[in-house]
Amino acid sequence: MCGIVGYVGRKDVTSVILVGLEKLEYRGYDSAGIATLEKEGLRITKRSGRLKHLYALVNGRPSTARVGLGHTRWATHGAPTDSNAHPHMDCEQKIAVAHNGIIENFQELREELIARGHQFRSDTDSEVIPHLIEGYLREGKTLFEAVLATVQRLKGSFALVILAEQEPDKLIGVRKDSPLVVGVGDGEMFLASDIPAILSHTRKVIILGDEEIAVINREGYQIFNFEGIPVEREIREIPWSMEDAEKGPYPHFMLKEIHEQPRVVERILEQYIRNGEIQLLKDNNLRRLLLSKRRVVIQAAGTSLHAGMVGQYLLERLARIQTTVEFSSEFRYREPVLDPDTLIVAISQSGETADTLAGVRMAREQGLEVLSLVNVVDSSIARESDYVIYLHAGPEIGVASTKAYTAQLLTLTLLSLELGRLKGLLDEEVYRGYVQALFALPEQIREILAQEPFIRAVAEKYAQANNFMFLGRDLHYPTALEGALKLKEISYIHATGYAAGEMKHGPLALIDESWPVVVVNPRTAVWEKTLSNTMEIRARGGRVISVLTQGDRRGKDVSDEVFWIPGTEDYLTPILAIVPLQLLAYHVAVLRGCDVDKPRNLAKSVTVE
Ligand code: AGP
Repeated sequence: MCGIVGYVGRKDVTSVILVGLEKLEYRGYDSAGIATLEKEGLRITKRSGRLKHLYALVNGRPSTARVGLGHTRWATHGAPTDSNAHPHMDCEQKIAVAHNGIIENFQELREELIARGHQFRSDTDSEVIPHLIEGYLREGKTLFEAVLATVQRLKGSFALVILAEQEPDKLIGVRKDSPLVVGVGDGEMFLASDIPAILSHTRKVIILGDEEIAVINREGYQIFNFEGIPVEREIREIPWSMEDAEKGPYPHFMLKEIHEQPRVVERILEQYIRNGEIQLLKDNNLRRLLLSKRRVVIQAAGTSLHAGMVGQYLLERLARIQTTVEFSSEFRYREPVLDPDTLIVAISQSGETADTLAGVRMAREQGLEVLSLVNVVDSSIARESDYVIYLHAGPEIGVASTKAYTAQLLTLTLLSLELGRLKGLLDEEVYRGYVQALFALPEQIREILAQEPFIRAVAEKYAQANNFMFLGRDLHYPTALEGALKLKEISYIHATGYAAGEMKHGPLALIDESWPVVVVNPRTAVWEKTLSNTMEIRARGGRVISVLTQGDRRGKDVSDEVFWIPGTEDYLTPILAIVPLQLLAYHVAVLRGCDVDKPRNLAKSVTVE
């Protein structure tokens, strides 16, 4: 996934683009580049490495430009070198193109273009785009006509921003499978991969639809589909502020987002509970759909998959709906046998994960209905689903997902409770008890966050370990997987999540005093069993860090360290138990000098397969 920014207006173009790219660096940070249209023509500067290298080269450089574009890259085709950095140009260096996505048929296009005499400077798939545009311009087409003809030739996913000397007062944006938004300003216009890049200039945003082209200049914008037919798109007023997309007093977005979780839970409860009644299924059609289905298949990736695994326990126990969970990257190729009684549920923070989007498309091609739980409004997965329940977690910038995960868990919990009640499976008293316990969650999360100094001290003890094991049973097997993912993706420690009951079937052989073992064991129905697993670990010299319910003396007696969580209903414990593990991962990564918000090799949303 990459980040693109385009600007046309009276402000300092280089500064608008560099600051915008900074807000998008979480999308990819292998290399960065900028193109501005100066009096003497196109000026392009690009460098491998983080944005700061480009900054050093161009910030403050004299410029007369009133239009430009920039790009920060997560390398797919071609190593992160200067020449492979975007923007890419045509032979005469009069067209600049920034691209996010993958051009699947680039090899054949490249050969065709080389045969027609085009000279290539990079190993990337993206570079075929400016050369195709160049060829069409040579045929006498306008820039818009040339872009229209070019996108008909491309296969794959592409968000593009295009700048050409031939028509110097405009930018052209293209969206297919990779996100692109238009920012509407006063005498200035923007194009960006994501809203934070332009929020300091305008909150008026148009989310481009799939297979749409935007032509922008200082006076305004026009939007067309890939047949060249004008399209109307509404201007949205973005509800969240610049601060939401800033770190504020926190050193990292991830820490800010961990601490935002009480507020996120409060917002979701305010949104979906009225007068003690859960009203997630206000939409009668969605309610009827869920009540009519005999099976649910949840498909997601990474952290969202772990949330789906908790959702499986909740939907089966509270709503008695047969539920399975699949990696979207497996689901989309498995040729699953799916009957019309099956509802597909896609879970995704970004709403742009290529594998999960492909799973949605496959299901719909087979005539199944899709419900998606998504954080980013109007994202691709949201738009291509029959129904969407938004997570209301606000912008999540840190690559490691935290507040979106707890928002997913809470939304799945509310869904399961409401369905269970609608199906007459939950008596009033039990239901009321759950609603009361839900409203206690924000304060309980704050209580856990208050333990941060202790959790940091524990991180100091174990930050140099080379391996970590995370164990959990039942509802907390996914918690163990999620805790391990958090640690490994930001600290680069080899961390494994495992079902606690499976340890004696082999992995126990790994354990000795060099292995810290995190055992997620709040007071639930499987607490006693998991306590036995903890003792097995201790008996072999493993050092145990337990997540326990306050007051659990027996659990404490068999642990080297304890992260306490307040007591609550069994089904709500996943929302609490993950919080200390998020903090543990964060502090271990900081102590190891890792880049917490932009871990190596990763990107916030994996829009490529
Ligand atoms: C989470 O910490 C990871 N960054 C990653 O596993 C992420 O959850 C996964 O890529 C799915 O992203 P999505 O929720 O935006 O679909």
